[in-house]
Amino acid sequence: MVNIAPSVDLTAAIGRLREERNAVILAHNYQVPEIQDIADFVGDSLGLAYKARETDAEVIAFCGVHFMAETAKIINPTKTVVLPDKDAGCSLEESCPADELEAFLNENEENNYFVVAYINCSARVKALSDVICTSGNAVKIVESVPADRKILFVPDQNLGSWVMEQTGRPMDLWEGACYVHVEFTRDSINAIKRDHPDAVVVAHPECTYAVRLLADEICSTEKMVHFCRQSEAKNIIVVTEAGMLHRLQKEAPNKNLIPGPTDNCRCAECRFMKMNTLDKLHDCLLNLTPSIELPEDIRKKAEAPILRMLELSK
Ligand code: 13P
Ligand code: SF4
Repeated sequence: MVNIAPSVDLTAAIGRLREERNAVILAHNYQVPEIQDIADFVGDSLGLAYKARETDAEVIAFCGVHFMAETAKIINPTKTVVLPDKDAGCSLEESCPADELEAFLNENEENNYFVVAYINCSARVKALSDVICTSGNAVKIVESVPADRKILFVPDQNLGSWVMEQTGRPMDLWEGACYVHVEFTRDSINAIKRDHPDAVVVAHPECTYAVRLLADEICSTEKMVHFCRQSEAKNIIVVTEAGMLHRLQKEAPNKNLIPGPTDNCRCAECRFMKMNTLDKLHDCLLNLTPSIELPEDIRKKAEAPILRMLELSK
């Protein structure tokens, strides 16, 4: 017999702590189902940034990866921002160390780059940037860059090349990538399409060009919710991190949602997103640690391009 009591207790304890701490629980679409189900808001990076900005809670428990919690702290310096696991990083963030970006900008000073940084980067990289974007608003943000400025797009070359295709605007691309989304291949997606010939394909723009070519729609995780709800297709192949399927099943229950496979696996999981658990969420609310702390000069420099993004993508 399965004993569900501990998890019921845990859920109740998290609920009590949320009240006592005057906390809000924000969760990304890739979080494990039990975290999504207990969260006050579940969404993509852009939606979560707006929610973090709007909340009047004293504590933000951010269930996502480190750069997301850090973004919440940058725009909420007086609030306590905790995350269940401080080691929940991101391969895109790792692919663009701030000192390397700074050296590159110094070596290429004559280009007077306008730096557009995908939100999947550290506070120090944000502090070196002119504007931030997410997958949900990258096209709009790039279109807003003054026409006479040369753009450097960091750190995701796949999102960057997709934005170039959409806008026709040339950009120099930092050579970073998401280790999860590059696992989808032309062969793995063609194989699942053969199994479901009437299915449509929705893919995240962090996927490679070869995979994007096979997609009917390319969008952020939140826009996937809208796409699946309004699509006339019954069968939808979802080419992104597998946690998305839980959110989509709730939002579009009448659809047959098929996880996009990789060459080695029937779906793809981000090991960083999966570091967060209900136990760790409970503990971070109880102990108010790990919390995000930032030097004020970096926070202030990083805040300006985030606020510019929030203003531009209203
Ligand atoms: P979204 O903003 O589309 O949710 O993407 C975040 C992310 O990390 C994708 O890998
Ligand atoms: Fe980073 Fe990729 Fe994980 Fe998203 S899925 S958090 S981009 S490693």
